[in-house]
Amino acid sequence: MKVLVTGGAGYIGSHTVLALLQQDHQVVVFDNLCNASEVPLARIEAMTGKHIEFFRGDIRDVAALDAVFGAHQFDAVIHFAALKAVGESTQKPLAYYQTNVHGSVCLLEAMQRHQVTDFIFSSSATVYGELAIVPYLESMPLGSPSSPYGATKVMVERIMADYAAANPEFRGVSLRYFNPIGAHESGNLGEDPKGIPNNLLPYLAQVAVGRRTHLSVFGGDYPTQDGTCLRDYLHVMDLAEGHTAALNWLADHPQQRGIEAFNLGTGQGVSVLDIIAAFEQASGVPVPYEIAPRRAGDLAAFWANADKASTMLGWQAKRNLTQMMHDTWRWQSQNPSGYSEE
Ligand code: NAD
Ligand code: UFG
Repeated sequence: MKVLVTGGAGYIGSHTVLALLQQDHQVVVFDNLCNASEVPLARIEAMTGKHIEFFRGDIRDVAALDAVFGAHQFDAVIHFAALKAVGESTQKPLAYYQTNVHGSVCLLEAMQRHQVTDFIFSSSATVYGELAIVPYLESMPLGSPSSPYGATKVMVERIMADYAAANPEFRGVSLRYFNPIGAHESGNLGEDPKGIPNNLLPYLAQVAVGRRTHLSVFGGDYPTQDGTCLRDYLHVMDLAEGHTAALNWLADHPQQRGIEAFNLGTGQGVSVLDIIAAFEQASGVPVPYEIAPRRAGDLAAFWANADKASTMLGWQAKRNLTQMMHDTWRWQSQNPSGYSEE
């Protein structure tokens, strides 16, 4: 299949591009590089010996979208491009609605103009909102996430539902990611956030490599076994393979219409202190940390029920916490400054 991947130079997008090429799909990447560079794409080409066509463009730029859709007949679109920092979204809500919601509408309109029906969307566990009971199940209603970022994911899922109701040809899949971490097992691809990392694993890995002095553990008094938050961490290559599974499921089900949502997680809640211990064991490097005040907006504990993805897509997370930590450390120690040296 020929697949358009928006945001394909980013963290999850680049790993998914590799998984797609490994399954002999053709890939065109569309990315404005606001949070990425072309280096991972060059590395993927070197790893696979396959060409990736790259368009530098913004998903809100209708002419740029028409150019890429005009140049290729796509079988499907995988839509990663978005702004994703939860905290920043409370400071710059309009930028988040502009890119994540308006940008997604521009993309769906371009698909409609060019008669492309198959759409896989990067959603998030945050769509279940603050009141949902764990483990999260796809049959639960969309909630009210506290951040504008989370609200954009709920809105795009609603837009997909409304569009599907009006356009009987549309085939949408919403993949609700839990906490993707880790890196490709080669150490060639990984997460390279700009500035101070917001997320746990990139911050922890930068402490381990000596770029930061210590990790602040946000909250030690949650109602969990060790007082720190529980999350459902999954390996980014498992997540990438969730996208190829969804793409293949659409292709294998030509009668499928409308939208379908799938949780992509392991089904296990792991604490922040568990993560630190697992990382230290895998890397052999001590990680200095201190318990800091809670971070606004954090939920104590959530994890997935991932049975639907297993039953319908034949997808299950295969890689364990030890492998996630080994691969995080391989990436960070081989690329202490991320992709910026090239
Ligand atoms: P990322 O920032 O590494 O990747 C996003 C990519 O989109 C970047 O390459 C960026 O340059 C590009 N982009 C942003 N705005 C664009 C625009 N207007 N036009 C074109 N390209 C644009 O982030 P990621 O972690 O790989 O996340 C990918 C997707 O998964 C996002 O939609 C994110 O919201 C979602 N998601 C991520 C997580 C996570 O923990 N990383 C969890 C749940 C959902
Ligand atoms: N944490 C720390 N110290 C840090 C960073 C994080 O203790 O320096 C803790 C957080 O408090 C939380 C856990 O580590 O308990 C995980 O935090 P992340 O920021 O890595 O991930 P979140 O669970 O907050 O956010 C993720 C995604 C979002 C998504 C959200 C809900 O990054 O995109 O899950 O699905 F919206």
